[in-house]
Amino acid sequence: MEHVRLNNGTRIPYLGTGTNTYGKENNEYNGKLNGDFTALESAIEMGYRLIDTAISYRNEAGVGKTVKESGIDRKAFYLTTKIPVDDEYIKDKETVRKTLNQSLENLETDYIDLYLIHRPIENDEKLKLTWEVLEEFVSKGKIKSIGVSNFSNEDLEKLDKFATIKPAVNQIKSNPTQWNNEWIKYMLDRDIRPQGWGPMKTTDQHKDYLNKIGENYGKTWGQVLLRYQTQRGVVVIPKSHNPVNQKANLESLDFLLSDEDMVKIAQL
Ligand SMILES: NC(=O)c1ccc[n+]([C@@H]2O[C@H](COP(=O)([O-])OP(=O)(O)OC[C@H]3O[C@@H](n4cnc5c(N)ncnc54)[C@H](OP(=O)(O)O)[C@@H]3O)[C@@H](O)[C@H]2O)c1
Repeated sequence: MEHVRLNNGTRIPYLGTGTNTYGKENNEYNGKLNGDFTALESAIEMGYRLIDTAISYRNEAGVGKTVKESGIDRKAFYLTTKIPVDDEYIKDKETVRKTLNQSLENLETDYIDLYLIHRPIENDEKLKLTWEVLEEFVSKGKIKSIGVSNFSNEDLEKLDKFATIKPAVNQIKSNPTQWNNEWIKYMLDRDIRPQGWGPMKTTDQHKDYLNKIGENYGKTWGQVLLRYQTQRGVVVIPKSHNPVNQKANLESLDFLLSDEDMVKIAQL
């Protein structure tokens, strides 16, 4: 698995699995929890090690159990989770500590590789106290890296004013319908690693275009778009319930797009 360095010197796999519908009825985001983590088991068996969950997905505990039951050394995994921005989770420092400790317990681990703030926190005081507790957990070794998600450039600049630890990652939407190229460039220029969520969402027209490019490499539209992202420095977390697609997504890492094709794809 290819890795990339974060601004704190740690390394993150370039490709992981999303989980936001895992462990749920009908594979639906808002579906009732049913404990079915077959898709995650298959991803792990295939070699996925970066696993992206969140408190709001309600499945941290199932993810933790599946990782544990894989029998693979915890150190081989890269676990990401996210704190929601409602008062219930971030009202004051003690509440944030409780939330983070609950994630550690749910994930059955004594450290989390990457902890993100799920979306921008409008209230400056709450943003500051949440970040300070995340930093506190880094200093205790309970979290290795901290970052944000869906933060605009202005949100990142707000954090800059008081953060002792710079965010390592900003997880944002990025796919052919909305690459967010400028936003991604801003992060890369500041050594904040962009991570793309919802990477597979696209249109039939884009699929045809990407399949055409893929013909030169013997690759599909999905593999081409994932390679475009990793080749330009974006970590991706595609999610699939289908082992064939899970395998295809992993195999996006075994070829390189030409500079010419990179430019064409950027212009979609
Ligand atoms: N930070 C945030 O605010 C945020 C927001 C949304 C998501 N996320 C994270 O990002 C992860 C990924 O996003 P997502 O789950 O919304 O969407 P996604 O990964 O872009 O797309 C998932 C869909 O793509 C299909 N798919 C996957 N690989 C494929 C392939 N090779 N060929 C054809 N179809 C393929 C899957 O169908 P099959 O199951 O049939 O393969 C599934 O329907 C989430 O699971 C979550 O962990 C974060």
